Amino acid sequence: MTDGKGLFITATGTDVGKTYVTALIVKKLREAGHSAGYCKAALSGVDRTAAGFHVDDATYVARVAGIAEREAEMFVPYVYGAAVSPHLAAKIEDNPVKIAVVKAVYEQALASYDFVTMEGSGGIVCPLRYDADAQLLLEDVITALGLGAIVVADAGLGTINATVLTVDYMKRRGIPVKGIILNRYDAADAMMRDNRKMVEVLTRVPVLACVKKGDTAIAIEAATLAGLYG
Ligand SMILES: Nc1ncnc2c1ncn2[C@@H]1O[C@H](COP(=O)(O)OP(=O)(O)OP(=O)(O)O)[C@@H](O)[C@H]1O
Ligand SMILES: [Mg+2]
Repeated sequence: MTDGKGLFITATGTDVGKTYVTALIVKKLREAGHSAGYCKAALSGVDRTAAGFHVDDATYVARVAGIAEREAEMFVPYVYGAAVSPHLAAKIEDNPVKIAVVKAVYEQALASYDFVTMEGSGGIVCPLRYDADAQLLLEDVITALGLGAIVVADAGLGTINATVLTVDYMKRRGIPVKGIILNRYDAADAMMRDNRKMVEVLTRVPVLACVKKGDTAIAIEAATLAGLYG
């Protein structure tokens, strides 16, 4: 049974706040009584602890959203120690990403939850595998799983360029962009308020929510969020 619906979370770059925002989204859905879970194809730069891997992004989302850590980690099929792009980490550790494995894990997630939020790696241009046998980009995963996506962008300086380029690239690749979420937003900052307007005008994609530093909830109705999944 694969009844669930999915949504992909990408960003204008690494460290922009995909995990932070994803955690708030999953938390909001779960607080509204929905069955909601987390999934990520490939995670690199993971610390190896005595207890094994510390699957940071999944662990963080689990903690914030109230999912058991072990349960969240089940849906991250590829975990690498090297803090480099997954395609390079996969080469170093001789464990290349296979689309069939990612698909199978995603389908398991869909069978386990009504709403699966899948976090990307890095920004939208991210090679997951690049060797003589296969070339797999992040966008191939989004397309293969038939997902629509949200773009997390920093609210500050440089975001107009980064967001417009990201959305344009996604549209050219046929990925439905459902909305933008601005992170580290400060409504007292006139530039950020202008950025919010300008990214909407130039991308023709709505800014669904603005997340401030330290926010513990996302200001968007659970029903609206649920409507983004497909
Ligand atoms: N709104 C926020 N308030 C406070 N801290 C934040 C906020 N957004 C992000 N951070 C912090 O900034 C860091 C980077 O954010 P995050 O891990 O969500 O980025 P990411 O896009 O998921 O990165 P990666 O590409 O590594 O997956 C983390 O330490 C996170 O806790
Ligand atoms: Mg992350």
